[in-house]
Amino acid sequence: TAAATVLAPTLASTLSSCAAPEDVPQVGFGTPLPVPPLAESRLDGGVRVFSLAPQAGKHEFVPGKPADSMGYNGSYLGPTLRAARGERVRIDIRNQLGDPTTVHFHGMRLPAADDGGPHLAIEPGATGSPAWTIDQPAATLWYHPHPHGSTEKQLSLGLVGLFVIDDDQSPGGLPHAYGVDDFPLIVQDRRLDANGQLTFDSSGNSLGTLGSSIAANGVLGATLAVTTQRVRLRLLNASGGRWFNFGFADGRTFHVVASDGGLLAAPVPVTRVQLSPAERAEIVVSMAPGESVMLRSFAPELGSVNPADAFGGGRDFDVVRLDAAATLAPSPALPAAFAVIPALEVSGAHIRSFTLNGRNINNHTVDMNRVDEIVKKGSTEVWLVDNTNAYQHNFHVHGVQFQLLDVNGTPPPAHVRGWKDTIPLLPGDRSRIAMRMPAYADAKVPYMYHCHVVTHEDQGMMGQYLVTEDGTGPSSLSMEGMQH
Ligand code: C2O
Ligand code: CU
Repeated sequence: TAAATVLAPTLASTLSSCAAPEDVPQVGFGTPLPVPPLAESRLDGGVRVFSLAPQAGKHEFVPGKPADSMGYNGSYLGPTLRAARGERVRIDIRNQLGDPTTVHFHGMRLPAADDGGPHLAIEPGATGSPAWTIDQPAATLWYHPHPHGSTEKQLSLGLVGLFVIDDDQSPGGLPHAYGVDDFPLIVQDRRLDANGQLTFDSSGNSLGTLGSSIAANGVLGATLAVTTQRVRLRLLNASGGRWFNFGFADGRTFHVVASDGGLLAAPVPVTRVQLSPAERAEIVVSMAPGESVMLRSFAPELGSVNPADAFGGGRDFDVVRLDAAATLAPSPALPAAFAVIPALEVSGAHIRSFTLNGRNINNHTVDMNRVDEIVKKGSTEVWLVDNTNAYQHNFHVHGVQFQLLDVNGTPPPAHVRGWKDTIPLLPGDRSRIAMRMPAYADAKVPYMYHCHVVTHEDQGMMGQYLVTEDGTGPSSLSMEGMQH
């Protein structure tokens, strides 16, 4: 059948176009929200070692209708990896899929050869063991596959996990008991057919497959039982192409406490937080005893964006309902100040420009053997990113956390004035980002930058940068492994 063709584990770089029609099951918001387990680790000569096994499985989005899926160490999603700044970690990855995969550590400062980019394929049955020393502030990062041409499929089938970094700089007062008052929330749009299977259909919009069922930690219509006065939600938009615009159904104010790469300077009160694919925000919401409130993604203001494309169709979606217990354990007050975010000195910075158009960055799609940019290890750079299309893209850089300086000349709102690794670009947006380039020189393995609308990424909307000691190096490489 068409659905079986779509889901067959092949490396075809385009998904079947004969997709089944979407079926949107009714959900009752009664299922308890599952919390991904914390990954077990062991110490091996001072190195914290985790094991990940990407594998195929079955997952029920609709009760009684098991869907073909993929997960790390299980049938869907993956455990939360957790380590502290300064620790050395190693991730032993054993590929139990029938296809090559990679595991990319999104948002991590680490050597390019450990970053799980598309060059670093792990063949079926093979093992990879990236290792590095955690060298960045407390943050909610994530990991996912990056095999060139099939990222959308592997990611959408469920290969997604969080990587939480701790440090000793974080102030008291923030909820931090995992699964008690501090919850990961992996949000994905799901396109299901009448058999409860995931389907892929990119027709009719610019953003790839869009689904109208919303999964929170893998469950449609989940409920979070709140037992404390305040809860922290670590939101990840793990959709392939859908933008979310999160808020609460009653319009209540909540606080954004962290962006992609760590805590903000101070909590920022908002009623909405928009996340494009791959972006994260940590929020803290206060609850009254006995009340219920829906976390919702709201249709954004469309502005000049084509409604068919805008944020993947621009409508409201209920995500997870928060139900507070009749009595709530007290939570400490939110601290008034968090991290100190040093302003990067950009006056002498090297400036580069990136124009996004169609599936091109600076007029071409990716070539694994072409070096697009060469940067000097540890230097500070400013990148100007320009979306010339009438629909949205976003932009992610591997190996760094950056600061968004301005969008169309205007400084960003306070809740995104922190560390970022992915930014949205609406039609016509010109954004400037500043970053300290990776501290690891390697003239052979490049880092990627790309659009994180994964169907665009699969179609080649990526580029590569090398980091070298002095900012010079080869203009071509011969990368083995995956071919474009
Ligand atoms: Cu999360 Cu290269 O991506
Ligand atoms: Cu794009």
